Amino acid sequence: MDISVKIGQAEKQKTPCLVVGIYEKNKLSESAEAINNLTQGGLRTIIKQGDIDGKAGQTQLIPLLPNAPCTRLLLVGLGSTKTVKEADFRKACDAAAKALATGGMESAVSFLSDVNVHKKDVLWKIKTEAASMLATTYQYNYYKSKNEPSKHPLKKLTLGVGSRTRLSLAKEGLAQAIAIDTGITLTKDLGNCPPNICHPTYLAEQALQLGNRFDKLNVDVLEESDMQKLGMGSLLSVSKGSQQPAKLITMQYTGGKKPQKPVVLVGKGVTFDTGGISLKPGASMDEMKFDMCGAASVFGTLLACCELGLPINLVGIIPAVENMPDGKATRPGDIVTTMSKQTVEILNTDAEGRLILCDALTYAEKFDPDVVVDVATLTGACIVALGKHTSGLLSNDDSLANALFDAGQRSGDKCWRLPLWDEYQKQLDSNFADMANIGGAPAGTITAACFLSRFTENYRWAHLDIAGVAWLSGNKKGATGRPVPLLMDYLLQRCQ
Ligand code: BES
Ligand code: MN
Ligand code: ZN
Repeated sequence: MDISVKIGQAEKQKTPCLVVGIYEKNKLSESAEAINNLTQGGLRTIIKQGDIDGKAGQTQLIPLLPNAPCTRLLLVGLGSTKTVKEADFRKACDAAAKALATGGMESAVSFLSDVNVHKKDVLWKIKTEAASMLATTYQYNYYKSKNEPSKHPLKKLTLGVGSRTRLSLAKEGLAQAIAIDTGITLTKDLGNCPPNICHPTYLAEQALQLGNRFDKLNVDVLEESDMQKLGMGSLLSVSKGSQQPAKLITMQYTGGKKPQKPVVLVGKGVTFDTGGISLKPGASMDEMKFDMCGAASVFGTLLACCELGLPINLVGIIPAVENMPDGKATRPGDIVTTMSKQTVEILNTDAEGRLILCDALTYAEKFDPDVVVDVATLTGACIVALGKHTSGLLSNDDSLANALFDAGQRSGDKCWRLPLWDEYQKQLDSNFADMANIGGAPAGTITAACFLSRFTENYRWAHLDIAGVAWLSGNKKGATGRPVPLLMDYLLQRCQ
């Protein structure tokens, strides 16, 4: 989809479809009012028939509006208040995007962003609207034998802004949305890729290809023998049952000045999680191909940063493994030594994410990070606690936790902090090693983070548990691209 911004007035747009907002109780936005005047009150007459009442997210497509230069009008509900609530604006954008995706028009002009949104500027409004529109164009059909043409009819979308003063901010918002969408698309593509194709070596190849595309991105891949030398006994124990060799992928983006300490992102890259010897039940096991969505989000975030040329230093570390049962696989009861020299008794081979992350987190120290954020589909317990809408956030640093929380709010890619208090640590006690890799049923998301916290004491660190948000199940099964919007918002904020 070709998407652009321009200055203009709604009533002057010659377009197959004009998009304008209305509020509840038949109140009109500025652009809707202009159309109403143009049609000598015709729009109000139509609205009064009551097919749309302005609730956020309602839409109505009106064909053939008399006297108007646009052939159709898409009305979009914005909610009850003239200062639109942030969540209502998002609903309106998503609904408009959906209506345009199914409407059949090849081009459209939208003035949705002419309204006031509580405490938001035009950059945010255009970015949010563009993100919704771009998201609807995603399709994953690489493995459909009959080449399906794009189902999305819309080829060209113009986002109108009322005045010249707002244009440069609007352009910036659009550029951010496009770059972030490019990152989200990569994240979704990697997540959706079948696990017989997307194995650790495939992820390493993808990283090397990305490195070839951008001067400022350097990629390095460690083999199992390298990891052995570094003492990564925990990471290596996870892939022992797999025919696929583990890889430790590092992508280094240097957009900032030399002395600037990097942000390090660590993404869980379990390309398939059977549970290992602690085998998972069969139902929905296919969805464990998404167990590398943390890694995929690190790919997507790096790509978006490269596209925008952000003035930051950013390192992505991806421990990539496949967790399989086998005669050579790790057993419950095995004890391994981590790169940090701490020992772990593996009581459940299905708690493998933390076993690869702990060594990657120790490895992260070598980059002298300003902060480290790991992203992982780590615990089913996180879905119990927060559902499918919200990532779990745990951190050893309040300012980092607050910054990530705020980034979630601004981007709509929300997270919520859970405590990392000492009381929980003793659930990890082991009779035979420094710690066990599971902490029992209560507070499973917290005890998983407690495990990681033992490897992150030398820097400011946060953990995002994306088990609930990284993909959708059912007939909409597929990767969501989260938490790329959250991470990008955090990184953009650091550039301010
Ligand atoms: N990848 C899973 C977590 C997961 C499960 C994410 C379901 C999304 C949906 C992880 O490796 C895992 O198996 N965790 C176990 C930990 C337990 C053994 C302590 C879990 O959550 O059951
Ligand atoms: Mn598991
Ligand atoms: Zn897993």
